[in-house]
Amino acid sequence: MKAAVLEQYGKFRVEERDISEPGSGQVQVAISHASICGTDMHIFKGDFHPRTPVPFIPGHEMAGTVAKTGSGVEGFVEGDKVAIDPIIWCGECPACKENHYPACKNLKLLGVDMDGGFCQLINVDQKMLFNAPETIPSEHLALVEIYGIGFHACNRAGVKKGDSIAIWGAGRVGQVILQAARTITEGPIFLVDVIDERLKIARTTYENVITINALDTDPIPAILEQTGGMGCDIAFEAVGHPLHTESTMNPVRGAINSIRGAGIVCVLGLTDEPAPIVFKELIWKEAKIIASRVSHGEYPLIIENLAANLLNPDVLISAVFPAERIQEAFEAIEKDPAKYLKILLEF
Ligand SMILES: NC(=O)c1ccc[n+]([C@@H]2O[C@H](COP(=O)([O-])OP(=O)(O)OC[C@H]3O[C@@H](n4cnc5c(N)ncnc54)[C@H](O)[C@@H]3O)[C@@H](O)[C@H]2O)c1
Ligand SMILES: [Zn+2]
Ligand SMILES: [Zn+2]
Repeated sequence: MKAAVLEQYGKFRVEERDISEPGSGQVQVAISHASICGTDMHIFKGDFHPRTPVPFIPGHEMAGTVAKTGSGVEGFVEGDKVAIDPIIWCGECPACKENHYPACKNLKLLGVDMDGGFCQLINVDQKMLFNAPETIPSEHLALVEIYGIGFHACNRAGVKKGDSIAIWGAGRVGQVILQAARTITEGPIFLVDVIDERLKIARTTYENVITINALDTDPIPAILEQTGGMGCDIAFEAVGHPLHTESTMNPVRGAINSIRGAGIVCVLGLTDEPAPIVFKELIWKEAKIIASRVSHGEYPLIIENLAANLLNPDVLISAVFPAERIQEAFEAIEKDPAKYLKILLEF
C-alpha cells in the first residue's frame, strides 16, 4: 500500500509499505480521505519531537471503507463506510475510572503517538470505528474527528437553545465550534479573528453570525453593544498562539470579557504561552472557566447531523489534493492560512 511518510521534519515521501492482516478485534480500513489538522502542521515542523520521532506516518482525521475484518469483529462488514476515532485511552487511570476519558493520563492518538492514517490501509480496533450511511461523502466523513472537537466543546460548555456565544478564533477549531453550536442555538454568535477570509466563511454560511476582525475593531465594546451591554452566555477560546499587536487583547482574557455575569468560558487553544488572566474580571461575574479536550462519544450525533445536512462541511474544505501532493499541501497551509483552512488528501 501507499503511505505518506514524514521522512524528516518538513519533508514527506510517498512510498510503498506492507500491511499486516487485521488482528483479533481489528478491522482493516481502506482510507479514502484524510484531513490535515493544526496538530499535523506541528508534527511536520518537528514541534512534537520527541513524541513523534521520524520516520513517521501522521494522520488522525480520516475515513474510508472496511476492507477486511479480523476474528471476533461484529457489526462491520466489507464495504461499510466508516469514520475513525483516533483516541486511545488507558481505562485504568483515575480520570478513566470516572469515565472522563479525554482527561486520561495516558491518552494516545493514532497518527500522533503511533503511525496514523495518511496511507491507503490501516488496521484499527473495532471500538474506534463508527458506521456511516452511504449517502455521506467520504470527504465529509473525514471531518467527523474535527467536528468532534466542536461538539464536545459545546457539551463541556453546556450550550443550549437560545444561547448567545462569542468564539475567539475562526480557524479550524473555531469554525467547527460555530457549526456545532448552530445545531443547538439560533442566538447571536460573535466570531473574532484577525483574518478576514476566515471570518467571511462563517458570515456567508450562517445567519445571525457577527464577525469581528480584532485588527480593526475592538471586540469587547462591539459584543457588549449588541448584547444590551450584558455580554454573551458562553465564550470559547480557540486561538492557541495569538497574534500580538498593540491593540489586540489576549483571546483568553477576551473570552472572559465577552461573557455576562454567571456566564461560561470554555478554553481549547494549546499553547505554552501563559495567558494574562485578570481574575477579578472572572470573580465579579462569578463565572466558570472550563477546558475541553478532544471528544467523547459525539461521533454518532455528528454522523446523524451530517446525514441530515445540518452541518456545512464543504465550507471547511479549501482543497482536495491527491496523496502524492502531500508535501505541497502542507506547504500551502503553512504559507497561506487565508486561502487554506482544511486540505483533504485523497488516498
Ligand atoms: N482542545 C482541543 O481538543 C484541541 C483540538 C484541536 C486543536 N486544538 C488547539 O486549538 C487551537 C486552534 O486550532 P486551529 O487548528 O483552529 O488553529 P488555526 O490556526 O486554524 O486557528 C487559530 C485562529 O486564531 C486566529 N488568531 C490569531 N491571533 C488572534 C487574536 N489575537 N485574536 C483573535 N484571533 C486570533 C488566527 O488567525 C486563526 O484563524 C490550537 O492551539 C490547537 O492546538 C485544541
Ligand atoms: Zn486534528
Ligand atoms: Zn486513562
